[in-house]
Amino acid sequence: MKTAVFAHRGYSSKYPENTMLAFRKAVEAGAEGIELDIQLTQDRELAVIHDSTLDRTTDGSGLVREKTLKELNRYSAGSLVNPLYREEKVPSLEEVLRWAQKKELTLNIELKHDPEDREIIAEELLRLLQVLPQKNSTIVSSFDHEALAYIKESEEHIVTAALSLGLLIDTAAYLKKYNIEGFHYYYPMLSSKDVKKLLHHGVKMRPFTVNDAESLKECYQSGCTAVITDDPHRALILRNR
Ligand code: G3P
Ligand code: CA
Repeated sequence: MKTAVFAHRGYSSKYPENTMLAFRKAVEAGAEGIELDIQLTQDRELAVIHDSTLDRTTDGSGLVREKTLKELNRYSAGSLVNPLYREEKVPSLEEVLRWAQKKELTLNIELKHDPEDREIIAEELLRLLQVLPQKNSTIVSSFDHEALAYIKESEEHIVTAALSLGLLIDTAAYLKKYNIEGFHYYYPMLSSKDVKKLLHHGVKMRPFTVNDAESLKECYQSGCTAVITDDPHRALILRNR
């Protein structure tokens, strides 16, 4: 199987991360998947933004958790990258799911939440995925593995992936125990041998965030299920050579 290319926060090396523009451009570049981050808003909606605050990526400030979705819409999520992108907003997950619904595209939704919001974010995500089922399977990932376990207990068919910087104690057995299909890891921490061993155990292996040519080639040679990259165009050129 060919290694798939997932665009990390959309085509984020060129366009403002986690915006509809970055997602559209990733699809135009040929990415087979899009990785995106979600945060809970004050009104229990799901906003597509990496940080818990607005400061780094928008012209607003303060905690996302203290804003309603309507309030978030006042800010630009593109102007800090380029004034040309000032109309880009913080998308809602609902908007992304509607846009992706009929596409041959895998969405990798990463849960970003405070531990006390674990059940709320999981419930809201499950509700949205039920209303807006996707053509391709959606992968839910998180560093909070208990959140994944909660999702699996509610809806066994949802595909999950554990985020981790490096290997866990007996990674394959751990993932099996929690019924987690994928392992999303910081690629410098695993050898090609580690990757192949886990693939042999049936684990879907998706390293992040792989941008340089040498590392991309190594991931392809190891047979990774997907690479998560800021530059899907470059990753596809290297893969399709
Ligand atoms: O999903 C992989 C990667 O996105 C995790 O790190 O900080 O970019 O969300 P981060
Ligand atoms: Ca992420």
